Amino acid sequence: MFIPSPLLLLAAAGWVQAAVSPGRDRSSLNSGWKFSRFTSNPDSLSYNTLKPWMLPLANEFIVNGAKHQKPSGAPPGSNVQYVQESFNDASWQSINLPHDWAIAGPFNAPGISGGMGRLPSNGVGWYRRKLTATTEDVDGSKSIFIDFDGAMSYAAVWLNGNLLGGWPFGYASWRVDLTPYLKAGTNTLAVRLDNAVDNSRWYPGAGIYRNVWLVKMDKTHVAQWGTTITTPSVSSSSATVNLAVQIENLANATRKVDVNTKVYAIDQSGNVGTAVVASFDTVAINVDAGKKQSVNGSVKISNPRLWGPPPGQTPNLYVAVTTLTASGTNGAVLDTYETRFGIRSLTYDANKGLLVNGQYVRVQGTCNHHDQGSIGTAINFRATQRQLQTLQEMGSNALRTSHNPPAPELLDLADSMGFMVLDEFFDCWVQGKTSNDYHLLYADWHEPDVRAIMRRDRNHPSVIAWSLGNEIPEQGSSQGGTEGQELQNIVKSEDPTRYTTSAMNSASETSALANVIDIEGLNYQGEYGAYGSFRNKFPNKMIWGSETASCISSRGTYLFPVTSSNNAVYSSNGGSDSSRMWISAYDLQNPGWGGSPDTVFQSQDNFPFVAGEFVWTGFDYIGEPTPYGGNGGARSSYFGIVDLAGFKKDRFYSYQARWRPELPMAHILPHWTWPERVGQVTPVHVFSSADEVELFVNGVSAGRQKRPGKSVYRFRWDNVKYSAGDLRAVAYKNGNQWAVDTRKTAGSATTLNVTVDRASIAGDGQDLAYVSVAVTDSSGTVVPRANNTITFSVSGPGVLVSTDNGDPTDMTAFPSASRKAFSGLALAIVRANAGATGQITVTAKADGLTGGQVVIKAS
Ligand SMILES: *[C@@H]1O[C@H](CO)[C@@H](O)[C@H](O)[C@H]1NC(C)=O
Ligand SMILES: *[C@@H]1O[C@H](CO)[C@@H](O)[C@H](O)[C@H]1NC(C)=O
Ligand SMILES: *[C@@H]1O[C@H](CO)[C@@H](O)[C@H](O)[C@H]1NC(C)=O
Ligand SMILES: *[C@@H]1O[C@H](CO)[C@@H](O)[C@H](O)[C@H]1NC(C)=O
Repeated sequence: MFIPSPLLLLAAAGWVQAAVSPGRDRSSLNSGWKFSRFTSNPDSLSYNTLKPWMLPLANEFIVNGAKHQKPSGAPPGSNVQYVQESFNDASWQSINLPHDWAIAGPFNAPGISGGMGRLPSNGVGWYRRKLTATTEDVDGSKSIFIDFDGAMSYAAVWLNGNLLGGWPFGYASWRVDLTPYLKAGTNTLAVRLDNAVDNSRWYPGAGIYRNVWLVKMDKTHVAQWGTTITTPSVSSSSATVNLAVQIENLANATRKVDVNTKVYAIDQSGNVGTAVVASFDTVAINVDAGKKQSVNGSVKISNPRLWGPPPGQTPNLYVAVTTLTASGTNGAVLDTYETRFGIRSLTYDANKGLLVNGQYVRVQGTCNHHDQGSIGTAINFRATQRQLQTLQEMGSNALRTSHNPPAPELLDLADSMGFMVLDEFFDCWVQGKTSNDYHLLYADWHEPDVRAIMRRDRNHPSVIAWSLGNEIPEQGSSQGGTEGQELQNIVKSEDPTRYTTSAMNSASETSALANVIDIEGLNYQGEYGAYGSFRNKFPNKMIWGSETASCISSRGTYLFPVTSSNNAVYSSNGGSDSSRMWISAYDLQNPGWGGSPDTVFQSQDNFPFVAGEFVWTGFDYIGEPTPYGGNGGARSSYFGIVDLAGFKKDRFYSYQARWRPELPMAHILPHWTWPERVGQVTPVHVFSSADEVELFVNGVSAGRQKRPGKSVYRFRWDNVKYSAGDLRAVAYKNGNQWAVDTRKTAGSATTLNVTVDRASIAGDGQDLAYVSVAVTDSSGTVVPRANNTITFSVSGPGVLVSTDNGDPTDMTAFPSASRKAFSGLALAIVRANAGATGQITVTAKADGLTGGQVVIKAS
């Protein structure tokens, strides 16, 4: 059973729209692009030729290393046809950003491993777009930038044939200055991306996969990510808010400006209040031509509305609105800049764990890659929100952005929903994991990448720690210690307020890196005893499971016999079926390094000083289909608590039982439709937040079990023999009935039951409706192994974006309108057209079954 959480209602808050505010015009540059992908290099360009022209963009973010001079001579690419204004791109694909060129498939792309998801992410991609400028845009008073939230990868940008620079790391956000080459009338923008094969261990996506913004402002303005807000003292009665504002003056003369900042509260719906909560003293400064200058100030806020994770706390937000005005003249507003922030304190306590505003909060986190299943890596607000809502429904309060910095929208959502985020920089440093991964960039780019990521993300209250890296190959050597120390110094110079960690799977407590970092982050090894040895060595450092479990399963596929153990490595005679590439949904199986949820809970309870865990993973993701990553294998992971389509696996309820103990809930597995198992032992397990559960098989009690101690995480009846009928679990807490769940034997499939997650969506060309189909029998019971082919169609002002079923082995391309049900379920994702109003009808049909439809309102 499921009782909807009031937390879900918080979800809409915090979405930052493009805005024209006095002095600053930030607008989306997502529409109207032309695109072409080339599997072999179509031009004379490479990272080696472009690199000297990209590196100067990094200068802003280099403090320790040498700054880079723009080379003299002609920049590369000016003669490439795709950068020319005259090039005719009519035959190229018309697309809007964010765009993932690989997600449409087909699978089994040449040269792309199972680990990378078998989709065609490699090759060179060119994007082109016209850009119109007015005479005011180019009158010399303005700076005009493009802000790329992220492009995968090795991006280089030209305007009217002039190379502006670029940024290779695909997860970074960066800015190019159009001002020198922008002209009144039509301009031509061209972006080249370049993805080598073997550049990642998982599906990286491909293309300009995050939002792109055109930013126009006076030459004297708040610098990129130019504000820093900290809250050094926080109590329920008073908080100190410190602010530093960096002003950039790109004009030719010294400018005298007044800097003024006012603070407003943001309510739970995301509306900014009208009352000024606090005002920083106005500061007048001179900023020399071509220079940057910072001002700072401090205010006290009484009775602050603190930011903290639900359900114990509320994720309250504020916004600081900074206004630059020209001093002495008519007081013209030069720039307005908004910084959203939260007031909260963090204490990283070695004995107790994490305290937010002085209150203990156990870290109940998941790790997730950045893809959104069948829509790929193209950032979508609703898709991200839906993932976080599902995780919050489970009781999760933390996210690890494995293994790279996220899209800005994820942090906006985490701020407004109250997730605590471990923001991770890298999957490798000097030593690579694949032939073309970040190790090729590390020497030149690690400092600028870390500083840029931190300046972008530092004001988000959701970010609770920085992860220097994941399972760094040199983590256990002295080299790992030296590199880690250098990163640690960079992080501390940017942000002395937050702790660092590194996700270590093989470093020991005597490794140099373990000594460098502030929080000991253990991947899996905690469950095998390392919590104790790290604790002994570092009694004053907080420890958490930065990656835990790696339980694997295919949703709804229960395999027999079932191990009597709490966890087991999958094997050909237990827990897996290699001919079908299935792993048992009893959720007890794992690869050699991992453990079941039960095992992890046990180790967390055995070492109560551990601050919590980040489960690998919240959602299934594309790539890493362990253990079926070889030729002819699967396409997507088995690690998720929730499958790739967003359907919950059984262990969702194991985590919910532990993480939301106050929620009355019982969940039975497996399904109860086993005509071939009559009379055979078919174990029944129940996840519940109760302390006692009684199971009835066809109305006859199979026994009432007490939770014998805190070390039991599922109720098990391992000797039940199957006969058709029903299962009923009645759960008790303190002797009172707490929750009930049932499973019924299904008859044959007759009907498609179609439901949608939201009855109305925005007609903005972005918002999504998730349409689920269950194959049911005539009484509405899901037919648990149904695999009927379902065909979707959409009428009205919307389009079918993709379909899925959560089956890691399904090689049907994601945009296909036909999709087999997997374990009785399938999903279609539908988008309303931009400007759409009215009804969108989504119809599902299957041969021999009664079809169904849903109507979605677009507005
Ligand atoms: C700034 O100075 C440069 C040369 O130093 C000149 O080309 C440019 O026109 C000047 N811009 C303005 C806005 O005065
Ligand atoms: C403001 O800057 C000055 C000079 O750098 C520094 O001493 C002071 O601590 C800063 N104040 C705040 C509130 O950050
Ligand atoms: C069938 O659809 C109805 C709504 O039309 C929904 O309440 C019910 O949960 C669905 N059943 C299944 C098995 O999906
Ligand atoms: C689909 O289900 C039928 C009936 O259970 C089964 O025989 C068949 O093997 C399944 N097909 C696939 C591709 O799983």
